[in-house]
Amino acid sequence: MSMKIPFLNNKQTKENDTEKPENVPDHVAIIMDGNGRWAQRRGLPRIAGHKEGVSAVNKIVKAAVKANVKILTLYTFSTENWKRPRSEIDFILKLPKEFLHIYLPGLIANNVKINTIGDFDELPEHTKSAVQYAVDKTKDNDGMVLNFALNYGSRLEIIRAVKQIIDDIDQSKISLDALDDHEFSKYLFTNGLSDPDLLIRTGGEQRLSNFLLWQLAYTEFWFTDELWPDFNEKSFSVALEEYQRRKRRYGGI
Ligand code: FPP
Repeated sequence: MSMKIPFLNNKQTKENDTEKPENVPDHVAIIMDGNGRWAQRRGLPRIAGHKEGVSAVNKIVKAAVKANVKILTLYTFSTENWKRPRSEIDFILKLPKEFLHIYLPGLIANNVKINTIGDFDELPEHTKSAVQYAVDKTKDNDGMVLNFALNYGSRLEIIRAVKQIIDDIDQSKISLDALDDHEFSKYLFTNGLSDPDLLIRTGGEQRLSNFLLWQLAYTEFWFTDELWPDFNEKSFSVALEEYQRRKRRYGGI
């Protein structure tokens, strides 16, 4: 099988002969931070940064498809983001609809499958219907999964899983003895998706902010000071190149 190798340069190939050149991360998760600061530095309201962030989303989705990434998970709205001013929340929660209105035809043409993780029910109706429409329209696509974390929080996800497991044990659907990390994973929003191989966080902070705490156990992290609206194809390829140089041992030697 020959695969396009868009992110590995010759030097790295020579230095790491044992490294498979097609070592592109299957699953990339991104904490898209820095929209507010991007806007404030330009004397604009914070929402201008979120709007600009949508263009960055489009660029990175295209770059990820081109790089043969299998799953791209984007932290779009966290369970903690409800603490923001109502006007900012309303603005952010309109962005998926705007994004899909413009870009869904292109996503379909590129065989992208839309998925979501998070507590979908609590989202406003207009967000839910736009996203659900895209999920339905792309359900048979078998290309890259574009996974929006919407009203997502890892602690909520884990507590919800524990409650469902207790229920299932009570109803004898599973036994306590059978519960291991593989079984536990099935109760998470990410059921059916592999764990991220690479986590990118833009905006200069080096923390996880309640994102995929369980799933990131063996993930490679890459942080950049670049603000999300400035993040582009080149930045993404730098992150993938760095990933290609990492040696993953999963606790082994
Ligand atoms: C964090 O930056 C960003 C968010 C909470 C919203 C992220 C949303 C987008 C990038 C747009 C998403 C659009 C689609 C289509 C999925 P921040 O506001 O915390 O920035 P700051 O740290 O500079 O204040």
